[in-house]
Amino acid sequence: MCGIVGYIGARQAASIVLNGLRQLEYRGYDSAGMAVLGSDGSLQIRREVGKLGNLAQLLAEAPVEGAVAVGHTRWATHGPPSQRNAHPHRSPDGRIVVVQNGIVENFAELRSRLQGQGYTFHSDTDTEVIVHLVHRYYHNGCDGDLAAAVRKTLADLKGPSAIVVLSEDYPDQLIAARLGNAGGVAIGLGEDETFIASDIPALLQHTRQVVFLETRQMAIITRQGATYFDLEGQPLHKTTTTIDWDPQAAEKGEFAHYMQKEIFEQGRSLTDTLRGRLDFVNQRVVLDSLNLSAAKLQEIDKVTIVACGTSYYAGLVGKYLIERLARLPVEVDYASEFRYRSPIVSPRHLVLAITQSGETVDTLAALEEARKGGAFTATIVNAIGSQAARICDGVIYMQAGPEIGVASTKAFTASVTDLFLLAFYLGQERGILNEAERTELLQAVATLPGLAGTLLEDAWQSNFYQQLAEQFHGFHNFLYLGRGINYAIAREGALKLKEISYIHAEGYPAGEMKHGPIALIDEKMPTVVIAPRDSVYDKMVSQVEQVKARRGAVLAVAHADDEYIRQKADVVMPIPKIHELLTPILAVMPLQILAYEMAVRRGTDVDQPRNLAKSVTVE
Ligand code: G6P
Repeated sequence: MCGIVGYIGARQAASIVLNGLRQLEYRGYDSAGMAVLGSDGSLQIRREVGKLGNLAQLLAEAPVEGAVAVGHTRWATHGPPSQRNAHPHRSPDGRIVVVQNGIVENFAELRSRLQGQGYTFHSDTDTEVIVHLVHRYYHNGCDGDLAAAVRKTLADLKGPSAIVVLSEDYPDQLIAARLGNAGGVAIGLGEDETFIASDIPALLQHTRQVVFLETRQMAIITRQGATYFDLEGQPLHKTTTTIDWDPQAAEKGEFAHYMQKEIFEQGRSLTDTLRGRLDFVNQRVVLDSLNLSAAKLQEIDKVTIVACGTSYYAGLVGKYLIERLARLPVEVDYASEFRYRSPIVSPRHLVLAITQSGETVDTLAALEEARKGGAFTATIVNAIGSQAARICDGVIYMQAGPEIGVASTKAFTASVTDLFLLAFYLGQERGILNEAERTELLQAVATLPGLAGTLLEDAWQSNFYQQLAEQFHGFHNFLYLGRGINYAIAREGALKLKEISYIHAEGYPAGEMKHGPIALIDEKMPTVVIAPRDSVYDKMVSQVEQVKARRGAVLAVAHADDEYIRQKADVVMPIPKIHELLTPILAVMPLQILAYEMAVRRGTDVDQPRNLAKSVTVE
């Protein structure tokens, strides 16, 4: 969840690392720190609690010069956010520093062992055991070989860790290592300068040539590049990936927040998601990267979707789409539940992980369970070259570009669009969809980016959502209702509101309202209903009546020309008409904008809401 950035080159390292950390601040943000190897050969450390701006201010007041540095933004696991718990942590002689992303599960045992050897701890973190271990092995057993000391240290650690080590004794190198699924370690190759980052947005300004470390691998990084080893010390040959993301895509530009930018660019991001995948000549969807041979496909008799958070809600829509278009049974599970309940997995199953980051620890663990059971694994993933993309048999990229706002928006609509394509593809390959159905669906999905663009442009040009938020931001509870394919949108809409505005919201299947939530409805509890003219429209209208009968306000996502709903509901958030199976992708957009505007009115930190992180790489 934390963010790591390292630099070795000829330029001033502090500002490069600080800029890199800015791109990663979405990963964790309760404190930050940096160590710079000064021109006099000594390590200078700056650490500050709070947002990265505080560290930037400290560096402005007390600058450090030097061309090698490592920095970190923290999301606390062991020990509260404080200056002394911020990374980097240093060895007793101050000559070695370590930053870490992950958890040392056996840290209590290692800490007391080190205390017994005379080490004093200055923080509550698990990371401090790592730097003391490196120091211990460096002087006892490794004869001043830093890489060997790092290797021995990693052999002692339980749990996932990604670390970077810098030592005064090795001024021309950084060491990076990865153990388990602790989040990515990407090494960016420049000209006479090399970068390290937990995620590629921090590298894009400098280079597109990236090497990713896998678990149990380490790299010795110099200005000229890097050499790679496994944790037994055996050299490795690693391939370089060229990242084609536009660096500007990770910039906020004219928008007030990344989340706002990411909502309003969904017309374009959906175009990217569809690019190259619709074959109108043969009326097919092209998904070569799924790598599912015809023979394997015939064997598959069940799909299991595993995911967390917003990606899980995309999975709920996916169930509906795959069952409908491909007639395969689909189970959707929270990855954190799937991994611990001895799931029944067989080689006849397709296990599909949906993950924006490709790093979520529970989702990766669920994939491991699936592999153990011999399932065909695939992922719908946004982060290029991420762990999920690397370990799965098949990959469908979201092609949404970098998503920085912690609350996921464009990655959600890209995932659902990918799920539509996957459902279509499975239906086409299994011979379920006839030509007329394929034509109708292909034509419908081709209109999606344009319709999304219109919806968003209309919202941008008016102050409708600002006024709506002005009217409703003081309420403390909201109920969201949806049904059928839009049930998941009720869940996702409620999640968006609570994540960034801290208003309690529940998403419910509309048909279940009478089994509980109706007891809560009064004039203090507004209800958001998703009511496009689809196969369950009449049922949704009757829910509106029932809420109104109990003096509750109703905010409806509905078609702009639906006069009937307009009369019944207090407010209509309009969406254009599209094929029913694609409505979730448009219906979620008003709910994203509503949540955003409510949060802005309530003065919360929209892009970095309290306690949340973009990539959850620890349990
Ligand atoms: C965190 C983020 C959510 C995201 C979830 C799953 O909770 O704050 O926005 O939906 O993780 O992340 P993934 O990268 O696996 O989609």
